[in-house]
Amino acid sequence: DASDIEKGTYPHYMLKEIDEQPAVIRKIIQAYQNENDELMIDFNIAEAVSGADRIYIVACGTSYHAGLIGKQFIEKMAKIPVEVHVASEFTYNMPLLSEKPLFIFISQSGETADSRAVLVAIKELGHKALTITNVPGSTLSREADFTLLLHAGPEIAVASTKAYTAQVAVLAILANVVAKFRNEKIDFDLVKELGMVATAMVALCDSKEEMESIAREFLSVTRNCFFIGRSLDYYVGLEGALKLKEISYIQAEGFAGGELKHGTIALIEEGTPVVALATQEGVNLSIRGNVKEVAARGANPCIISMKGLEEDDDRFVIPKVHELLTPLISVIPLQLIAYYAALHRECDVDKPRNLAKSVTVE
Ligand code: G6P
Repeated sequence: DASDIEKGTYPHYMLKEIDEQPAVIRKIIQAYQNENDELMIDFNIAEAVSGADRIYIVACGTSYHAGLIGKQFIEKMAKIPVEVHVASEFTYNMPLLSEKPLFIFISQSGETADSRAVLVAIKELGHKALTITNVPGSTLSREADFTLLLHAGPEIAVASTKAYTAQVAVLAILANVVAKFRNEKIDFDLVKELGMVATAMVALCDSKEEMESIAREFLSVTRNCFFIGRSLDYYVGLEGALKLKEISYIQAEGFAGGELKHGTIALIEEGTPVVALATQEGVNLSIRGNVKEVAARGANPCIISMKGLEEDDDRFVIPKVHELLTPLISVIPLQLIAYYAALHRECDVDKPRNLAKSVTVE
């Protein structure tokens, strides 16, 4: 209950929850380790996911964005094909299902009606479901066959922050454990890498002044803003745009770096802010090419890159973490930029208009 959770010295729950992210990641590492410090999940869950010939991730909003990243983890580590679906479309546009599907519902609250409608429909078809949720005993958790918990603690701000990073971290652990279960080779130590993520998160949470000045410089007078990225950065851009829309009411869209030019680039005017993420080595040159395209049309680019890939004009450089895990940390500057943009516009950060923390109507 919101009234039981103190904001302490924080002006808003959202800022407190952003700052809690390193501790949440450490908590998740602990919660999913066995006595030999190896990552593990319930055997029945590992077996059910490993045995699927295709995984269907179903979610809404921020949880859907975490699902897009989860697909990359599962396909790259566990080598099982994954589809990610927006819950509200799934019931009437159900894709042709594979022979042995496994459904993963991602929901912070565990109460979202759109997701529950899909769960009910696929259970009627006799399929198995795993719910990844922050709320033990929630509807989606009770009605699914299996549950994995986020251990993020209560999230009060309507705009999701720590639950998103918790979802991404738990999906990484799930993919990693299932990969081992299927004898797929993993060439990195996820526990160690997640530990480094937590440390990097601390540094990013300490960069509030920097993010406040980016928000002031790029977003104080604008009416719209674009986020671009390629590969994993694209999905983080979608989440950055959603955060900005939700709490600052600035029209924002996330685009795959290569796609903006196929139409939306018509919206670029003198001074239009374009936030570009550059954390993926394989696409670093191409995303920088996209930044040049929009800059040539008057855009005001704000490049957020990762250590090792940075160039002189980058506005901010995040610490280096494992390339698959960058979404866990590159989202923090975007959360903070959205927060300060909303603050400067005197918006109600924790309770944005028209939104609810959990939406129990379809
Ligand atoms: C609501 C919230 C969003 C959230 C979405 C899914 O629309 O305003 O912030 O991402 O529901 O919520 P869930 O609890 O299912 O993750």
